[in-house]
Amino acid sequence: MSLAALLEALPIPILQAPMVGASSDAMALAVSRAGGMGSIGAGAAQPDAIGAAVEKLRAQTDAPFGVNLFVVPPARPDGAVVAEALERLAPWYARVGSPLPEAPNDFAPDFAAQFEALIAAAPPVASFTFGILTGDQVEALHRAGTYVVGTATTAAEARAWAAVGADGICAQGFEAGGHRGHFLAEPDASLVGTLALVSTVRAAVDLPVIAAGGIMDGKGVAAVLALGASAAQMGTAFLLSQETAISAPWRAAVAGAKDDSTRLTRAFSGRHARGIENRFMREMRVSENDVPAYPVQNRLTQPLRAAGARAGDPEVLSLWAGQAVSLAREGEAGEMVKRWWAEAGDAARSLVQRTGRNT
Ligand SMILES: Cc1cc2nc3c(=O)[nH]c(=O)nc-3n(C[C@H](O)[C@H](O)[C@H](O)COP(=O)(O)O)c2cc1C
Repeated sequence: MSLAALLEALPIPILQAPMVGASSDAMALAVSRAGGMGSIGAGAAQPDAIGAAVEKLRAQTDAPFGVNLFVVPPARPDGAVVAEALERLAPWYARVGSPLPEAPNDFAPDFAAQFEALIAAAPPVASFTFGILTGDQVEALHRAGTYVVGTATTAAEARAWAAVGADGICAQGFEAGGHRGHFLAEPDASLVGTLALVSTVRAAVDLPVIAAGGIMDGKGVAAVLALGASAAQMGTAFLLSQETAISAPWRAAVAGAKDDSTRLTRAFSGRHARGIENRFMREMRVSENDVPAYPVQNRLTQPLRAAGARAGDPEVLSLWAGQAVSLAREGEAGEMVKRWWAEAGDAARSLVQRTGRNT
């Protein structure tokens, strides 16, 4: 078996994007059961939670699923940098009536320990973003029986993943909601649209490509399959599903989003990410290049975002969503996947009709 064969054998080549803070075990299960492929967003999970999540899903379905991690080195920021970053956030904490937190000791779960837990859990597929594995790490996953998918935002990143032995590439276009997965070039040089990225990655590497970014319905699924992608990965399209884990104010912002509501920002986390623009994004724009890099800023804004969610205040929340968020609809995740696949069939048939005309 290969990853290409696994994707080819899926009854529905739609992958539910792993989404820390937004996807859920129930969402992954519903999508895998419906014939697509669900994913567990484990980037923020403590290592001991990873095995339990994989076992739980495996116990409920024989269908394949993925687990996603963030490849980030341990953060050891200077105390003065943390103090300055907290000072910058003070008015925002005051706004939600929360005390400014103490400087934390830990900024993110330890990647090495998460990776060990992943190897032990041996899910069918593991995907990675924010960085790249070594060839030895990829081999270790292969020995465990796990296929490796690397996120790429440029053809160069796809080549880098191919060079370490990855089995497939998740090509993340500019349109995508949530954090950008770039790890080679500057963010500005890594903002390639999904259409251009899938085509250039296909030309660059001989690996199955999973297209992500701006795919909201069956027409989008058909479009990326026509480009040569092996599957479509959808995130924002699941944000209003019954299985969503997002808070009530985030849900309301998604439901009310317009065609031009999203922007990129690094103010929340120290890494560029796309979300619905709010007051925090607008007012922090002047200093967003000064905030400490991920995961430090992400950790420092965590209590603020949690307080905002509790208070129902969307202006201090990271409202991650993709460019086409205005097309997000409510529904049950498994039913949504089945409907999108039926729509993709309709789109393919009308394309065949169109291309068959005059010949
Ligand atoms: C709320 C949200 C959270 C996300 N979290 C993750 C994550 O934890 N890991 C990851 O690899 N990608 C994450 N992404 C990016 C998705 O994998 C994918 O690239 C993106 O959703 C595709 O674009 P779309 O949102 O337009 O469908 C997230 C996206 C969203 C919208």
